[in-house]
Amino acid sequence: MIKKTPHVYLMCPPEYFDVSYIINPWMHGNMRKIDNALAKVQWRALYDILCDRATVRLVLPQPGSPDMVFTANAGLLRGKKFLLSRFRFPERQYEEPYYADWFMDRGFDVTYMPRDVPFEGAGDALFDRSADRLWMAYGHRSVIGAVGEIEKLYGVNVVPLKLVDQRFYHLDTCFCPLEGGKLIYYPPAFDAESQKTIEKLVPSHRRFAIAESDALQFACNAVNVGKAVVVNRAGKGFVEGLGKLGYEVVQTPLSEFMKAGGSAKCLTLRLDEK
Ligand code: ARG
Repeated sequence: MIKKTPHVYLMCPPEYFDVSYIINPWMHGNMRKIDNALAKVQWRALYDILCDRATVRLVLPQPGSPDMVFTANAGLLRGKKFLLSRFRFPERQYEEPYYADWFMDRGFDVTYMPRDVPFEGAGDALFDRSADRLWMAYGHRSVIGAVGEIEKLYGVNVVPLKLVDQRFYHLDTCFCPLEGGKLIYYPPAFDAESQKTIEKLVPSHRRFAIAESDALQFACNAVNVGKAVVVNRAGKGFVEGLGKLGYEVVQTPLSEFMKAGGSAKCLTLRLDEK
């Protein structure tokens, strides 16, 4: 029997999803190569998996914003406070007002980042599940200058981590805090100092460093809902390793979204962050 959790996620149907510009290495060679019918089937499968275990709400997709499916980048949410993203690339800045409207219409307090502070929301900022701490990545899409704004708004301790591999351009592509305080991550995506910071703050028995082959299938881009860890694809080592930690890995192919540099976690935004 699948257990329903109190979690709530925001998703955006892939109506207009496509690769129509290149803003990350995964998109290279994939311009207009999306099979939209297949993308819809894959998105729907993820939606169904999450609906079995949580509540999913939807935001209306917009023509001209093909990456709007990646709701993780809408902003950062905790309680009623929503910090709207400032996208690094103009191609995605069109999404900002739609997300601002969605959250404003539903009674959230919407805060804007200063214009000159790029910050890509829950793609680059992830709450720890056992400590009152927010992990925030900078180096590709978000800037370290965002730290002060986030601390001011939420009064949370922000731990900045520097990303150094272009393929892992958002924190959620290489780092995933799990319920119960465990962490899966891909260490080479971070600079040496950030790796040390992670090792210092998360004891080794709680850390699971994943293989490059799994990292390249975006195994860290996981939706952890209850004991389930939902991913695009993962190898035996990953499935067994997480099994030992008490989690069940649920695999659901998301190849069409990988062509745009996204996977399970990017396609969702947690709305019940306490
Ligand atoms: N094509 C999108 C971009 O480059 C993919 C976003 C993936 N989102 C994420 N949270 N990693 O912005």
